[in-house]
Amino acid sequence: MAKAVDGVIRIGIIGSGGIAKAHARAYKEIEGVTIVAVSDVVPGKAGAFIDELELSDATPFTDHREALAQVAMHGVSVCTPNVAHHRTSIDALEAGVNVLTEKPMAVTLQQAVEMEQTARRTGKILTIGFQPRYDPNMVMLKELIQSGALGKIYYVETGGCRRRGMPGGTFIRTDLAGAGALADIGCYSLDMALNPLGYPKPLTVSAVATNHFGTNPTYHREADKFQVEDFGSALIRLEGGLTLNFKISWAMHMDTLGATMFLGTDAGLKVTSAGSGPWSGVWDGGVGSVTMYHDLHGSHVETHIPVKQHTVKIFAEKVKDFVGAIQEGRPAPIPGSQIVRNQAIIDGILRSAALGREVDIEIPEL
Ligand SMILES: NC(=O)c1ccc[n+]([C@@H]2O[C@H](COP(=O)([O-])OP(=O)(O)OC[C@H]3O[C@@H](n4cnc5c(N)ncnc54)[C@H](O)[C@@H]3O)[C@@H](O)[C@H]2O)c1
Repeated sequence: MAKAVDGVIRIGIIGSGGIAKAHARAYKEIEGVTIVAVSDVVPGKAGAFIDELELSDATPFTDHREALAQVAMHGVSVCTPNVAHHRTSIDALEAGVNVLTEKPMAVTLQQAVEMEQTARRTGKILTIGFQPRYDPNMVMLKELIQSGALGKIYYVETGGCRRRGMPGGTFIRTDLAGAGALADIGCYSLDMALNPLGYPKPLTVSAVATNHFGTNPTYHREADKFQVEDFGSALIRLEGGLTLNFKISWAMHMDTLGATMFLGTDAGLKVTSAGSGPWSGVWDGGVGSVTMYHDLHGSHVETHIPVKQHTVKIFAEKVKDFVGAIQEGRPAPIPGSQIVRNQAIIDGILRSAALGREVDIEIPEL
C-alpha cells in the first residue's frame, strides 16, 4: 500500500504482550502516525491493550490475517513470541505491508531466509528491531571501525551476559523461542560485533551450550519446563580471516564475561560494560568505557574515548526510523539480509553444540 492520501501513516501491531507496549508508546509520540489495528491470539487481549494504551483509532483482532485483510495499513510491528515472527511477517509482507519485527529475526535459519526472500519479492521493508544500534556509543564504534583506524581486524571477542537474568514462559520453550540466552540476548551481541564490521559471512562454528541453572529448581521456578540453554560459547570463523569468540549467559557465578574487544593490525579497541549488576553485558547494561590501544612497541599508548550520553531514547528511535523509512521510501534500516547471517550463526551454534563438533554454516541463496 502506498502512502495514504491524508498523509497519515497507519500502523498495526501483531502480538499485544509486554514489548508491544513500548512499540505503541513510541508510535504515539510520532506526529502523523496512528495505530489502526491490534491483533493477539488470546481473545480479549488486543481489546484490553487498545483500552490501556488509549488507541482510539484501533480495531482489535484475534487473527492477524483478518486485520491485514480488513484494515489498510502502511506498516506493522511484529511483537509475538519468536516462533510467530515468520508467519506473521510473511503474511504482512504478502499483504503489501512493511514490517518491523522484534528480535531475534526467527526461530530457524530457514524461516529467516524465507522472510527475507518475501521482502525482496514484495519490495516491502523488513527491518529487525535491534535498538542498541541507536545507542550513540554503538554508532561511534561503527564509525571508528569503518574509518580503518584499527587496520585489518582479525579477531573479535564479545560476551553478552546477565548474572541473574533468566526469563520464563515462552522464552524457555524450544518450540516457541528457538533458543534461550542465544536467541534472547545473544542475537544482540552478535549484531553489535558484526554490524561495525559490515556483517561478514560466517563460515564455520564450534560451540557448546549448557543449562545448569535453568534446569535447577534452586535457580529457576519453572525448572521442569526449561528446555533451552542458559549459557553458550562459540568460536566462529568468518570470511576475510576474521574469528569471533562469542560467549553468552543468562546466569552465572561471575560478574561479567569480559570486555568486548576488536583486535586489528594497527590498533585494538576495548569496550567495557556500564555497571556490574545482574545485567552487566555490553550492550545489555550499556557501554561503560571505550579504549583504543597502540602499544606493540612497548610505548603503550592508550586513548580513552569519551562515552557518549544518550541524547535519544533508543527504543523510540528504532520505531521512528521504521516510520521514516516508510515515509521516505528508504530501504530497511536494519535489513533482513544482514540479520539472516546473525540467525545462521545461532543456528550453527545450536547444531554444533548438539553434535559436539565444528559445523559448516551454509546460508541459502536469498
Ligand atoms: N527489543 C526489545 O527490547 C525486546 C524486549 C523484550 C522482548 N522482545 C521480543 O519481543 C517478542 C515478544 O516478547 P514479549 O516479552 O512481548 O512476549 P509476550 O509473551 O509478553 O507477548 C507476546 C504476545 O503475542 C501474542 N501472540 C502469540 N502468537 C501470536 C500470533 N500468531 N498473532 C498475534 N499474537 C500472538 C501472545 O498472546 C502475547 O500476548 C519476542 O520476540 C522477544 O524476543 C524484544
